[in-house]
Amino acid sequence: TLVATPRRGTLIVIEGVDRSGKSTQAASLVARLNALSGAVTAVSMRFPDRTTQTGKLIDAYLTQKDGTDGDSIDDRTIHLLFAANRAEAMVQLRKTLMTGTSVVVDRYAFSGVAYTHAKGAAGLDIEWCMAVDAGIIRPDVVFFLDIPTDVAASRGEFGQERYERQDFQEKVRTAFLDIADKAYWKILDARQSKDALGEEMLHLAVTEILKTENKPLQPLWQ
Ligand code: TMP
Ligand code: MG
Repeated sequence: TLVATPRRGTLIVIEGVDRSGKSTQAASLVARLNALSGAVTAVSMRFPDRTTQTGKLIDAYLTQKDGTDGDSIDDRTIHLLFAANRAEAMVQLRKTLMTGTSVVVDRYAFSGVAYTHAKGAAGLDIEWCMAVDAGIIRPDVVFFLDIPTDVAASRGEFGQERYERQDFQEKVRTAFLDIADKAYWKILDARQSKDALGEEMLHLAVTEILKTENKPLQPLWQ
């Protein structure tokens, strides 16, 4: 007898500058998807995952909010740590997707490229930044929560961590838009109300989940 293979889950990535609403929308999207009648299950994931060994090094780096390089980790090394923090999660991510569960991810390799490249230093060209993440699982869709950086900077808590300076965030936004791949990116207006944005994302996510059937997982940037 034939046993139906469960269709795989959909990999949905949410990207944007700091304080664009990603974490709130990621949680909301998972809740909305699981609340749908029907067979959709969704879980969340986030990068950096600050709980692992690499994540602890990254957290220490980020919470030094002086904004100077000081005695901190060098630019290429921290970039590699962020990439390692994703690489070590791939076995679990693949397993989750293959059992039919969709995964909503708060930041992914696009943040890796955008933040490192925005530093503008020698040796941090886009190609180098992308190369170290090439081959991880390609998202089915990326929701880019686009927001003017002055609006993001006016939101609560902005400025607490390294990178949270408006001039730098402007460079990050530009880098994101430079690497946006029209084939699977949706650029969304993150100034709209939480609920309106949540509804828009739910609609787009469901459309994507329905399209995922029988599509094999693909490697990113290869
Ligand atoms: P978070 O605010 O989503 O916890 O992310 C922490 C910071 O790390 C944020 O400013 C973006 C930055 N970042 C990178 O520089 N490279 C990466 O690969 C990722 C995932 C985040
Ligand atoms: Mg942040």
